[in-house]
Amino acid sequence: MLSKKMTAALNGQINAEIYSSYMYLSMSAWCEQTGLAGFANWMRQQAQEEMFHAMKFFHFISERGGRVVLEEIAKPPTDWVSALDVFTATLAHEQKVTGMINDLTNLALDERDHASNIFLQWFISEQVEEEAGVGAVLDKLKLIEKDASGLFILDQELGQRLFTPPPAG
Ligand code: FEO
Repeated sequence: MLSKKMTAALNGQINAEIYSSYMYLSMSAWCEQTGLAGFANWMRQQAQEEMFHAMKFFHFISERGGRVVLEEIAKPPTDWVSALDVFTATLAHEQKVTGMINDLTNLALDERDHASNIFLQWFISEQVEEEAGVGAVLDKLKLIEKDASGLFILDQELGQRLFTPPPAG
């Protein structure tokens, strides 16, 4: 059984994951309008992945006999100045989410809530991958700087991304 405090914290994370999805969709829209169709695709796939994260929390709360309560989703930013700006903001956001996952894990440890602790381990590993993936794109963007042909090639590469949810369980 989840404690009230843990239930509220996990519900807060549903909101954070859906906000992440919403923000990446907003970034996708900006990229699309800027002519960066591959970047736009990468962001749409990322948005889907974030909804998958939100649903993992949703199912976990229900499974543990808790009540899912959905709150308002804040309006995401709508404008960036460059692809570099988009990915700089993305890395900062993922680092913030990593901090949230760490806080949730600390709460699970404080409460000796072993089931929540085990559940959160998946997200700890996932955040390592998320930060590494975003950081790799950011490194390439820094190398390219204002080289249009480099940006074109990277755009094509990011256009290949396809999010496939892992099998249940
Ligand atoms: Fe769900 Fe990108 O963290």
